Amino acid sequence: MPDRSTRSISPVEHYGGGMKRRRDSTLLNPKSYVAPEVWTQAPLLTGTTKFEPLPNIKNIMVTGGAGFIACWFVRHLTLTYPEYNVVSFDKLDYCATLNNTRVLDNHPNFAFEQGDITSDADVKKCLRKHKIDTIFHFAAQSHVDLSFGNSYQFTNTNVYGTHVLLERARAHGVKRFIHISTDEVYGDVADDADDLSETSLLAPTNPYSASKAAAEMMVNAYRKSFKLPVITVRANNVYGPHQFPEKIIPKFIMLLHRGSKLLVHGDGSPTRRYLYAGDIVDALDTIFHKGVIGQIYNIASKDEVSNTEICHKLLDIFGLPHSTPEEFGKWVEHTEDRPFNDHRYATDGAKLALLGWYPKTDFDDGLKMTVDWYRRFGEQWWGDISRILTPFPVIEGNEVWTREEHDALPSDGELGPEEKRIAWTKKALHNLQASSDTFERRTRPDAAL
Ligand SMILES: NC(=O)c1ccc[n+]([C@@H]2O[C@H](COP(=O)([O-])OP(=O)(O)OC[C@H]3O[C@@H](n4cnc5c(N)ncnc54)[C@H](O)[C@@H]3O)[C@@H](O)[C@H]2O)c1
Repeated sequence: MPDRSTRSISPVEHYGGGMKRRRDSTLLNPKSYVAPEVWTQAPLLTGTTKFEPLPNIKNIMVTGGAGFIACWFVRHLTLTYPEYNVVSFDKLDYCATLNNTRVLDNHPNFAFEQGDITSDADVKKCLRKHKIDTIFHFAAQSHVDLSFGNSYQFTNTNVYGTHVLLERARAHGVKRFIHISTDEVYGDVADDADDLSETSLLAPTNPYSASKAAAEMMVNAYRKSFKLPVITVRANNVYGPHQFPEKIIPKFIMLLHRGSKLLVHGDGSPTRRYLYAGDIVDALDTIFHKGVIGQIYNIASKDEVSNTEICHKLLDIFGLPHSTPEEFGKWVEHTEDRPFNDHRYATDGAKLALLGWYPKTDFDDGLKMTVDWYRRFGEQWWGDISRILTPFPVIEGNEVWTREEHDALPSDGELGPEEKRIAWTKKALHNLQASSDTFERRTRPDAAL
């Protein structure tokens, strides 16, 4: 089983991790540590299903395992199925945190590997080292709002990264490749239209959903061309504890927790169907153990809620009056909308129901559990999230600005004082290294440099 040399990350060693910050920004460090008093108090959240383990499956790689949905799945697989070895493979992007799986650190059937799905070498190394036979592919750039500003990154990770994984999986000979997609690939669904089945046309409307649909095309091509044993799942919106607070539900919870106003994009009328994280884990577990290779499954909820309704429900849970327009307006303000915002998505889950899965958590109950978790842990879990809670944060790598701060940054070639200091230090270190090499060569001509 996995070499565990990449585990046991000490708080002191990794806090800050040698990352550099430019001015007026927050640098999020996914390796940063939440004190044991905090993470050991956090409830250990998994799904609820358990099936007969598959006899030909042993070593499972989960991409994006330090992110939201995959961390739930990793905890569930590791703890429910000691028969499987689980390897969480994650680049540790700005939205990830190792706190999501720290509770598994001493489990013999769990390992973490830091790696990038767009790196052929990283993926190959992990597949070989852990003798992987199954891949669950969650890793993605997942935030629609950011895809309007940084769309190359979405194509690179979601399309090219998926291609790299597929190609490596083919060469390595995996037995199952489960690809996690989204209901957004179908595009906008009219209010009076029927729910869409798995055979409906894909018609994505934003760079995120287009990249997910493109990734699906590549998955399907590998199924057809190389007989890669793939299953694709298309899930509704997911919410629950451990979701990075850039997405609407945790963001609004944290804003109310701080006594701040909720800034709603547009008029708040678009609706989404919501699945509690524990329910999607059960759905994935069901599909893994009972699903048919080569098939596509919608994972669908019936809880359809508008953004305005989310505000009302949260104000209710926080005990803040919201029944009159004046009361509501005290806590909710509207900002400009996304460049384009699908009004609603609606998928039909009958195919998965035939495998025996149905969502168990009612939206109101799930929301209360989620609020409770964020009130206790939300401020510490990811580090300083203040800039993430602003209406249109800008993210580059692991660094976050408000939009205004980012607009005020010096343009390329026009370095600010902090950037000048970093550039000068790099140059000085380079010169120092060069002169010491020269000195070594002069004094020890036989030395291998
Ligand atoms: N959250 C939802 O509502 C939802 C709904 C349907 C489908 N999905 C899909 O589920 C998957 C997981 O979504 P999520 O909300 O949990 O995402 P997330 O943003 O919380 O996590 C994504 C994870 O992927 C990792 N990652 C990003 N780029 C990587 C790379 N190049 N190499 C390795 N790791 C990388 C990140 O570090 C992070 O841990 C995505 O594929 C998303 O499209 C999400």
